[in-house]
Amino acid sequence: MRRKLIAGNWKMNGLLADGIALAAAVAELAKPRKHKCDILICPPFTLLIEAVRAVAGTPIAVGGQDCHMKASGAHTGDVSAPMLADLGCRYVILGHSERRADHKEPDSLIKTKAQAALAASLIPIVCVGETEAERDSGRTLEVVAGQLKGSLPEGGTAERVVIAYEPVWAIGTGRTPTLAEVQEVHAMIRRESGLGQGVRILYGGSMKPSNAQELLALPDVDGGLIGGASLKADDFWAIATACP
Ligand code: 13P
Repeated sequence: MRRKLIAGNWKMNGLLADGIALAAAVAELAKPRKHKCDILICPPFTLLIEAVRAVAGTPIAVGGQDCHMKASGAHTGDVSAPMLADLGCRYVILGHSERRADHKEPDSLIKTKAQAALAASLIPIVCVGETEAERDSGRTLEVVAGQLKGSLPEGGTAERVVIAYEPVWAIGTGRTPTLAEVQEVHAMIRRESGLGQGVRILYGGSMKPSNAQELLALPDVDGGLIGGASLKADDFWAIATACP
């Protein structure tokens, strides 16, 4: 049985006061209850230490949004996987489409970063997803399978790697694929990942309280990677509680 994971990707949002307040609000919602799913927040680097403090004593995990492929050294502006682990992070998002686009990150780099994450005992959340043009030309499965093959780390296992399917055209647009389209891609990812039945595959792209329940009920959807709706504690929590 795969336990679902609801992950909030805050992206480049939150000054200190807002970030602390948001983490504290999510922690407060998490406190009194037993949870059917794992819950994760991924704030920007500047808020990580405060987020770790805010969720201490709750089951909420904290993760980074990227890491360098090396453990240390002359890499100005970068942050390494051991640095994230040292702060108390347990996960790191890698290969998000915004990093693939903004920083020209190729699959091979994402794979190396994912290996660095594993070496630091972090769980990499490896992101894949097609652009609108790729979907329109009927190439979704081929593109996603190719990204998967190129980006997954060597030596990963179902317990130590998470995959996120995020169609680029669904991010921040309010549009989503049909449920059948999401299920088709997730089933293919599970087959092609080589990680077996136990690997968790998250859906991301305009997931919100009104569509979370039906997406999370799909057989191969094991959670969500949530952008915009993770910036409001109540919306994020409504998605977490929509887990079947
Ligand atoms: P939205 O939920 O804002 O569409 O963002 C999804 C995403 O990119 C999460 O990583």
